[in-house]
Amino acid sequence: MKDNQNEIFPLVNEEGTVIGQATRGECHSGSKLLHPVVHLHVFNAQGDVYLQKRPEWKDIQPGRWDTAVGGHIDYGETPEDALRREVREELGITDFTPMFIGKYVFESQRERELVYVHRTTYEGDIRPSTNELDGGRFWTMQEIREAMGHGVLTPNFESEFSRLFLDEAKKEKYRLLTAQIRALIEGETDVIAVMANVCAAIHETMGFFWTGFYRVQDDQLLLGPFQGPVACMHIGFGRGVCGTAWKQRETIVVPDVEQFPGHIACSSLSRSEIVVPVFSRNGDVVAVLDIDSKELSTFDDIDRQYLEEICQLLIC
Ligand code: SME
Repeated sequence: MKDNQNEIFPLVNEEGTVIGQATRGECHSGSKLLHPVVHLHVFNAQGDVYLQKRPEWKDIQPGRWDTAVGGHIDYGETPEDALRREVREELGITDFTPMFIGKYVFESQRERELVYVHRTTYEGDIRPSTNELDGGRFWTMQEIREAMGHGVLTPNFESEFSRLFLDEAKKEKYRLLTAQIRALIEGETDVIAVMANVCAAIHETMGFFWTGFYRVQDDQLLLGPFQGPVACMHIGFGRGVCGTAWKQRETIVVPDVEQFPGHIACSSLSRSEIVVPVFSRNGDVVAVLDIDSKELSTFDDIDRQYLEEICQLLIC
């Protein structure tokens, strides 16, 4: 099998209006001519995600696992018709209800696509095309997370799926957690009691390896309420990640603790870390919230944003 390089694709602007046409070969030659495609993410009732395996003969990303359905919109075809056609051709599915999620521009070295993204929940039979695909199967969210960044999945799938589904799931967890914490600490004035319940709530909800507070006592950080394995009790100003966050008065995200000069290893299992300062009303750092993970690169801007919001709730 081989793709027909002379197939005609529509060219579109970023709104999706057709403004011309070009061949598949031209669109995939690095010309960056914007052409539209449809994607469908197929979930089962348990929330697992179906991925298709791209065959070795494909001109782009051969052999990698990809979004359940993806295909170019033909010249003269609507996105809805293209989706139904591709889903039938690739997975043999005709009885599904698509939900349109949105469209965005995807750019790689070879091409520029306007991607119309959809999702569906499907419990029926899936018969992947033997001509177009190298099979397919459902993956759990955890399997997908673990496969990310290892050349198993297409980069296109990784970025789209993270943004639309993994990030959303994480934000939703943090939204619920923040609401729970607000209710939990309402009216409580004892800082130790508040910190104890806040770190327990974060730890339980997010499943981190170590979650705890260090409080500023005289000229050092002293271990406060925490959840997880035993930890070092005293940290100096400017020492380790915690002491640096105190000194710099800002959140520090460490994707790989081995790359952070002066990192204090309380446990050899800790691989990445985030430290958020807690400020008093008059702007002094009174404590830091320290969270450790057993995986690399666990923390990102979503963690930073919500953990900073939680630390602001503690202002005393
Ligand atoms: N790693 C921290 C020390 C505290 S433990 O992780 C609980 C740091 O470098 O400051």
